[in-house]
Amino acid sequence: QEMASMEGLIGLMNRIQRACTALGDHGGEGADLPTLWESLPTIAVVGGQSSGKSSVLESIVGRDFLPRGSGIVTRRPLVLQLHQIDKGAHEYADFLHLPKTRFSDFALVRQEIADETDRVTGKTKQISPVPIHLSIYSPNVVNLTLIDLPGLTKVAVEGQPESVVHDIENMVRSYVEKPNCIILAISPANQDIATSDAIKLSKEVDPSGERTFGVLTKLDLMDKGTNALDVLEGRAYRLQFPWVGIVNRSQADINRKVDMIAAREKEREYFENSPDYAHLSSRMGSVYLAKLLSQHLEAVIKARIPSITSLINKTIDELESELDTIGKAVAADPGAQLYTILELCRAFDRVFKEHLDGGRSGGDK
Ligand code: GDP
Ligand code: NA
Ligand code: MG
Repeated sequence: QEMASMEGLIGLMNRIQRACTALGDHGGEGADLPTLWESLPTIAVVGGQSSGKSSVLESIVGRDFLPRGSGIVTRRPLVLQLHQIDKGAHEYADFLHLPKTRFSDFALVRQEIADETDRVTGKTKQISPVPIHLSIYSPNVVNLTLIDLPGLTKVAVEGQPESVVHDIENMVRSYVEKPNCIILAISPANQDIATSDAIKLSKEVDPSGERTFGVLTKLDLMDKGTNALDVLEGRAYRLQFPWVGIVNRSQADINRKVDMIAAREKEREYFENSPDYAHLSSRMGSVYLAKLLSQHLEAVIKARIPSITSLINKTIDELESELDTIGKAVAADPGAQLYTILELCRAFDRVFKEHLDGGRSGGDK
């Protein structure tokens, strides 16, 4: 009962966020709506270039759809909304910039991300802060909003302006400094944690570590005779949440087109059979990370319900007066979208009230 209503709540939040984003693109009337957007929790990946950020996101989603590889591959922010749909329903994806196209082939989703990146930046190594918005609808995902970001670097490479190092850092910071952003700080296990760009930036924006999850990738690539127990057991760098170790697909696996199911199986076997990590195996891996994040997101939403409500109410009032001034004369798109958002806000309000009532009275509605 409780779980079902929380799922409804997260689903509605995803829809509100999407509606607000669509409206925001039109500017004008939507200009004051980002306050609502910004209050909703999101999850962003942060880390050095090629630390495995895109790979981790893919594993959480359980589908292959992101461009990955060595060098600078992710060159624009990707805002990814996962929507859980009924068991047995067909999985598909769509983009905000291509609202009429439904993608059921995830290889084409990856191609469209690459093409849409190039449309803004050209086929260069340049980056752009303009996000790509992608939604995935699937029975096999939990409801989450995830953001893939370009990796932090130390030097500009050929074809990049000198400013690129700071440009990337500022872009990443603009996402993770928001108090509602849950940070997936990705560090590769084959580099010393003291050199981690992910930890450096997340420590700066979240000093108490209350919204940072430490993720250690590339455990399989560590030097023989070494292990990452100091990090995974919280002795090297302590965070409020326990560290999660990950083994993503290697570049050779990607080239051989090893699929997600095989990769997850291999990852599970890796932990269970590892003399170093077997005792931690139930708290390691991408499947566990996805569950952990989903639980955390629900806890955050629950804790924020009072403040979200007051914001929603305020926004409803604001929208209503705005709609009054716009009047029926303007039946153009932005107006229609305002109505959509208003409806979503009301639905949100309803679900959340039911949730609170259910918690207090335990009534038989
Ligand atoms: P990003 O630049 O941080 O988004 O990293 P990617 O996900 O694109 O990965 C960069 C490269 O590292 C790719 O070739 C991946 O196959 C490889 N890689 C990522 N994680 C792991 C891992 O856990 N183990 C191994 N062996 N390779 C990995
Ligand atoms: Na990369
Ligand atoms: Mg990437």
